[in-house]
Amino acid sequence: MEIKIIRTNAPKAKPDQNSLGFGQHFTDHMFVMDYNLEKGWYNARIEPFGNLNLHPASTVFHYGAEIFEGMKAYRRPDGEVQLFRPEENMKRMNNSAERLSLPLLDEEFALEALKTFVNMEKDWVPSAPGTSLYLRPFLFGNDETLGVHTIHNAKFVIIASPVGAYYKEGLNPVKIMIETRDVRAVRGGTGYAKCGGNYAASMRAGDRAAAQGYSQVLWLDGVERKYIEEVGAMNVMFLINDTVVTPALTGSVLPGITRKSCIELLKEMNIKVEERLLSVDELSEAVKTGALKEAWGCGTAAVVSPIGELRMDDVKYQIADGGIGKLTQKLYDTLTSIQWGHAEDTHNWTCKV
Ligand code: PLP
Ligand code: COI
Repeated sequence: MEIKIIRTNAPKAKPDQNSLGFGQHFTDHMFVMDYNLEKGWYNARIEPFGNLNLHPASTVFHYGAEIFEGMKAYRRPDGEVQLFRPEENMKRMNNSAERLSLPLLDEEFALEALKTFVNMEKDWVPSAPGTSLYLRPFLFGNDETLGVHTIHNAKFVIIASPVGAYYKEGLNPVKIMIETRDVRAVRGGTGYAKCGGNYAASMRAGDRAAAQGYSQVLWLDGVERKYIEEVGAMNVMFLINDTVVTPALTGSVLPGITRKSCIELLKEMNIKVEERLLSVDELSEAVKTGALKEAWGCGTAAVVSPIGELRMDDVKYQIADGGIGKLTQKLYDTLTSIQWGHAEDTHNWTCKV
């Protein structure tokens, strides 16, 4: 399918690279493509960034028929721009689409569209340390009827935002609240899908945590409320003695691409990694005995983010000395040097646009 290109005649001024924040600025264009059950995907275009005009009965507003992805374009030292494992994001997007009965994408075409779009917005990829162009592909149902039925019409859109660090703390340790009242996902539900509804339902707990000075919520499993799952926007890893333990992908956890990459990098460093159930009791015991050496979160937006303190109800667990752990730092350095093209990519994870 051909991608029609309509350029803006009013390009915006670029924001200051040193105070980008996260998701506050948007580039000049966006990619849009429509879907209809009879026609399939059609009308692929890159057009000036702007509001979407949607019918008030559109399915997305009423039944939350929406999925999204998060990925980044990085400015290499040689000035070129590269993506990190974008095919993994497209694969996950289709897994999410399948879960929500939204139309599947042709992954190859979606990747081509993404690359064409990033190429067009190349000047928007910042070069200051730690910055990147965050890419947000999203797909939603927009049937103009209130009946609950399979989607006949949908849209796939990609927008882009130059970003700095996700947390205001930067690489400094964040404080995380273990949530004991709400649950994020249950097996058989939508936990493994990247759908908007998962995030909407998590905001109440996030607000409660924020009110007490915590950056995000750590979710427990929805059945026994005993096993650690993931943080609001990242997977979690714990260095217990000399083994990295991370919750297994049981269906209620998002299969993070950063998580997968970290596991591969850790194994290459000859560090033992266990993907398994990890209970809060085991973790609190590990804090008490000093076996818990480091904890970090990992995700596209958050990269590798050290956790300095975990709190559950009134109990606070400080992780080691509350600083950045040695392995956390090494993992951050190893991963980011591949993503930003400072080290040779021996894994074939990156692709230039
Ligand atoms: N878990 C949740 C709930 C997330 O929103 C994210 C962010 O995308 C992740 C984990 C990490 O996934 P990834 O590394 O693919 O960005
Ligand atoms: C990402 O890391 O891409 C995420 O999706 C986090 C986001 C919810 C802000």
